[in-house]
Amino acid sequence: MSDAKFKPGLEGIYAGQTAVAEVTQTSLRYRGYEIADLAEHCCFDEVAHLLLHGELPNRKQLADFRGRVQSAMTIPANIAEMVRQFPEKTPPMDVLRSVVSLLGHFDPDAQDNSPAANLRKSERLLGQIAAAVGLWCQKVSKFSAVKPDPSKSHGANLLAMMTGKPGSELAGRVMDGTLILYAEHEFNASTFTARTIASTLADMHSAVTGAIGALKGPLHGGANEAAMHQFLEIGSADNVEKWFRDLQEHNKNHPDNKKLIMGFGHRVYKNGDHRAGILREWSLQLSKETGQKHWIDMADKLQALMLKEKNIHPNTDYPAAHAYYQMGIPIDLYTPIFVCSRVTGWCAHVMEQHVNNRIIRPLSEYIGPPPRNVTPIDKR
Ligand SMILES: CC(C)(COP(=O)(O)OP(=O)(O)OC[C@H]1O[C@@H](n2cnc3c(N)ncnc32)[C@H](O)[C@@H]1OP(=O)(O)O)[C@@H](O)C(=O)NCCC(=O)NCCS
Repeated sequence: MSDAKFKPGLEGIYAGQTAVAEVTQTSLRYRGYEIADLAEHCCFDEVAHLLLHGELPNRKQLADFRGRVQSAMTIPANIAEMVRQFPEKTPPMDVLRSVVSLLGHFDPDAQDNSPAANLRKSERLLGQIAAAVGLWCQKVSKFSAVKPDPSKSHGANLLAMMTGKPGSELAGRVMDGTLILYAEHEFNASTFTARTIASTLADMHSAVTGAIGALKGPLHGGANEAAMHQFLEIGSADNVEKWFRDLQEHNKNHPDNKKLIMGFGHRVYKNGDHRAGILREWSLQLSKETGQKHWIDMADKLQALMLKEKNIHPNTDYPAAHAYYQMGIPIDLYTPIFVCSRVTGWCAHVMEQHVNNRIIRPLSEYIGPPPRNVTPIDKR
């Protein structure tokens, strides 16, 4: 049928075109802007506007955008009631997956895939997903709802909604910065999932629901939670070397059940993920306020060991883990924070797919039994 070669994990395959972001070995650009430049000069709301509307906003556009997103930071009462009935042990990623699906039932634009309707839904989802995370935190941690402060960034408001109190100015800035770094990354697994769903001309809520499911796994968004569990398991910088050697020993003795070191490695950035360096610096600044520099010491030691022994660099999830931990955020909320940010990238890609669509339907290489005839059931 085709002479194209199969590549496991589609590594190195161009599966589509996009104007949303460009990833190279050494850079990440959102619509042409380098991530470090955005992180230094913008708040997340500006970056979200860039991804969804195509350009950075001026002051008036930013105020209007923030106003629309903040007015969507509420969950309809009937859905909120359902969420309160979910078992408390439900992983928050599953809560978000269900909430986005439920929100689709009540969205006035749910079945409308026009660019204008998709944009309205994207802005609403940006507000509603943050509100859903806040609602879940209220239920589990038993505090009263925190209303978004119109003078504050999305990140600062999200932090307050997750913890029940306003964080420090620095913590709000770091949270907002992590949202910038997490917002978009071209054809990663969750975005590709969203685009595949959108390519059938299914709606925005279906695409985002599927993307949340894809993000949950520890090889993708779930790595920030796994990295923190790993830091807790290691315990201290003094134990890094022993922990690392024990893991290498395990891998040598169990070649079929090798353990990965979470927060390391990347399909594209084989020489380092520059977002990780930016976020490590922010986490270090935070540690001067929280007095928790030991997490960074431990992380740096493991990073040096990984580089020396395996030539593998950390990814963004690695410093995100110790930054969020210092903010007092429960670990199972780290990947939901990723959702609060990446929803902008997903929605931008869904819109791009819908305006220039061809259904995504690749081929597979068959490796099953050769052709054979059915034996009638009584003769089997
Ligand atoms: C991100 C990830 C899925 C990329 O996978 P990939 O592109 O298929 O990478 P590869 O499996 O080809 O990696 C090449 C080698 O490095 C090893 N490697 C990659 N990441 C590793 C890690 N985190 N810990 C230990 N070894 C790792 C692989 O085992 C492989 O070794 P081998 O050649 O001896 O088999 C992978 O690095 C990973 O699982 N990392 C941990 C989870 C994580 O942090 N995910 C967040 C991604 S942003």
